Amino acid sequence: MDIVGTGRTATIYDVGNGKVLKLFKSFCDKSSIENEFRFAKTAKEHGIQTPEAYSLVEDDRGVGIYYDRLEGIDLGASLGKNVFRIKSLAQNAASLLWSIHQIEDKSANDWRKAFSSRLETVKQLNDVDKGLIADYIQSLPKGCKLCHGDLHVENYLYDGDRLSVIDWMGAHYGHPAGDVARVVLLMSSPVIAAEAGIFERIIVKRILGLYNRAYIHSYLELSDMNYEQIEAFRLPVAALRLAEEVPYEEEWLKSIIGQEIKRRHLLVEED
Ligand SMILES: Nc1ncnc2c1ncn2[C@@H]1O[C@H](COP(=O)(O)OP(=O)(O)OP(=O)(O)O)[C@@H](O)[C@H]1O
Ligand SMILES: [Mg+2]
Repeated sequence: MDIVGTGRTATIYDVGNGKVLKLFKSFCDKSSIENEFRFAKTAKEHGIQTPEAYSLVEDDRGVGIYYDRLEGIDLGASLGKNVFRIKSLAQNAASLLWSIHQIEDKSANDWRKAFSSRLETVKQLNDVDKGLIADYIQSLPKGCKLCHGDLHVENYLYDGDRLSVIDWMGAHYGHPAGDVARVVLLMSSPVIAAEAGIFERIIVKRILGLYNRAYIHSYLELSDMNYEQIEAFRLPVAALRLAEEVPYEEEWLKSIIGQEIKRRHLLVEED
């Protein structure tokens, strides 16, 4: 089988007849894969531009999901090839995220409970910080909108005409500001172009800078949110990202967490 793409959690194979098999790496929980399958279907049913998910299979190769194969390349790579279209691609991408956020389930579990239990498993944080962040999470608004959970530029595919969304493993019902906060955080990750030469790194940062500004501007215009509402989610989003153990990120995330704890006066000094 030809490999169509690879990500952190899976390898995607062409299986013919316009379909691919997304075969997950062995460290992935079955429940996360089921979550991806469920939300890929939900999004498609609600008219979101995303490949049809057909079946979840388990055999001697592992666990996988059959999807329709999409044409095109990921948006991260597309930006460099379409420098004159960065702004309009960012507007389309933001509008796609906004349409995902129009889907809701009022009976869904409270995202704050799920975030707090995931927080307990973050081994890079001490118990004091975990306690402060858990209390802070409770002060944030509830929300029951469909959130993609990981909509960085590599989880959009662009065929030269339309953008599609893939990779629903982190999807949940929650607050849209948290979903946008994760996108904003990931856009400034030190892992981006970390191993590139200095010249390439400057170009990538410049392209992403243009894209990010247009993306946030469009999203805020479409929603009636302001930037402070998004920033309010920076702390929990950074804390949970730590658990993903992405190279080059640990010190960066710890410094964001420290700044946010200070800025929000969460740490009460004892005399
Ligand atoms: N349905 C599809 N049709 C065509 N190509 C696809 C499809 N799904 C995934 N790909 C390709 O495979 C790559 C990885 O896919 P995907 O994002 O689903 O994997 P992942 O391991 O979950 O990613 P991540 O690193 O974000 O966790 C994509 O960037 C894309 O190039
Ligand atoms: Mg992906």
